[in-house]
Amino acid sequence: MTQPEHDVLKAAQDHLWLHFTRHSAYEQSEIPTIVRGEGSYVYDIHGKRYLDGLAGLFVVQVGHGRHELAEAAAKQARELAFFPLWSYAHPKAAELAQRLAALAPGELNRVFFTTGGGEAVETAWKLAKQYYKMIGKPLKHKVISRQIAYHGTPQGALSITGIPAFKQMFEPLVPGSIRVPNTNHYRADEITGVKGMTPEEYGLWAADRVARAIEMEGPDTVAAVFAEPVQNAGGCFPPPPGYWQRLREICDEYDVLLVSDEVICAFGRLGTMFGGQKFDYVPDIITCAKGLTSGYSPIGAMIAHERLFEPFKDGDAMFAHGYTFGGHPVSAAVALANLDIFEREDLLGHVTRNEPLFKQTLDDLQDLPIVGDVRGAGYFWGIELVKDKATKETFTADESERLLRGFLSKALFDAGLYCRADDRGDPVIQLAPPLVAGPEEFKEIGSVLRGVLTEAWARL
Ligand SMILES: Cc1ncc(COP(=O)(O)O)c(C=O)c1O
Repeated sequence: MTQPEHDVLKAAQDHLWLHFTRHSAYEQSEIPTIVRGEGSYVYDIHGKRYLDGLAGLFVVQVGHGRHELAEAAAKQARELAFFPLWSYAHPKAAELAQRLAALAPGELNRVFFTTGGGEAVETAWKLAKQYYKMIGKPLKHKVISRQIAYHGTPQGALSITGIPAFKQMFEPLVPGSIRVPNTNHYRADEITGVKGMTPEEYGLWAADRVARAIEMEGPDTVAAVFAEPVQNAGGCFPPPPGYWQRLREICDEYDVLLVSDEVICAFGRLGTMFGGQKFDYVPDIITCAKGLTSGYSPIGAMIAHERLFEPFKDGDAMFAHGYTFGGHPVSAAVALANLDIFEREDLLGHVTRNEPLFKQTLDDLQDLPIVGDVRGAGYFWGIELVKDKATKETFTADESERLLRGFLSKALFDAGLYCRADDRGDPVIQLAPPLVAGPEEFKEIGSVLRGVLTEAWARL
């Protein structure tokens, strides 16, 4: 190891506070340190190559090492590095807002920029509260979201999040947030207590839980429903056919805003620009971030239906909300250049054409005894691991700990595949490579997974 490498690793050990990380895991070993990327691959500080099976964190859509995005950032920084969107505009934010409004479905024409996804979720809840106050329905403030869903870490977004373990340390959180079942059809028997529901039946059952929750809380108190097109946490739960259409009907019936949290699912992750376009629904608000710049600079956005902006047009009305760096000029310029790449390289078409092969690659692993379910859409897939395929028996907390943290995460990484082994719900492995990945990368993913999952089973 060279001296500069040693210095970086020591600085990380001594001073860096990692996110959602048990630091004890690195007491005896160095913190994996990634120094550069190229296409679908990244390289660590020792020069070892890894397939980026998670696009960083569902972010790097156009792949690593795109010089034109670096140049767009540099050009903008030279021209105007910073100016806020507080009472002023700058050209790139205006242009990006216009472009997003044109790409978004329906009349989602008004764009409020943030610096990331959690802030976009926070913004959407605050807007929902204020909107209903301004139109004379001041009691409407509660939100409904789904079990195990992750919506971010600010205290409002965390309150919407459906993972108790992430919330306990920070209680009391923002009140008025209610959980309903998610669209985990694999576990539908356990969730509903009814055997053998079809995906369509389960989808309607799950959507109707939202109506029931609204009724139980009182429709005049509920402001919004937050849901992801494909739910990430728990392992990529796609919506059963008809699910979103029923959610739309319910929200219309009770005058509740439908918020599609597309922090992961927007910008090509599912093969469409926005997640709702994949499943044919139009929400009232989209929250997005991550892939908007492919991670070359941070930004997030809340894209709202024109009617939600109406009350803010007159008199002294104002949405008293903002972020210094929201819609940062450099990030806005990078986002525009990123969307240019999407168009020029037909990334949406590429994902849609390759989706069946990616699915097939993962489905091929179903012959392994540990693979219980393979689910997802586009370039966003989860593999649920089970102890008994026939009964769908899952692992105990101890087994899951040993399997995921004790073995799988490290073994996959050591084998050259960066992806996610997660147990926020039942244990899953998640794959979401850059959108430029194709058959070669799928083959590599399939082969590493087969080797490591076979070994994991042998160790159980
Ligand atoms: C659906 C969803 N919403 C919100 C967030 C929070 O985004 P951020 O980490 O940019 O604040 C995430 C992050 O993964 C997410 O997946």
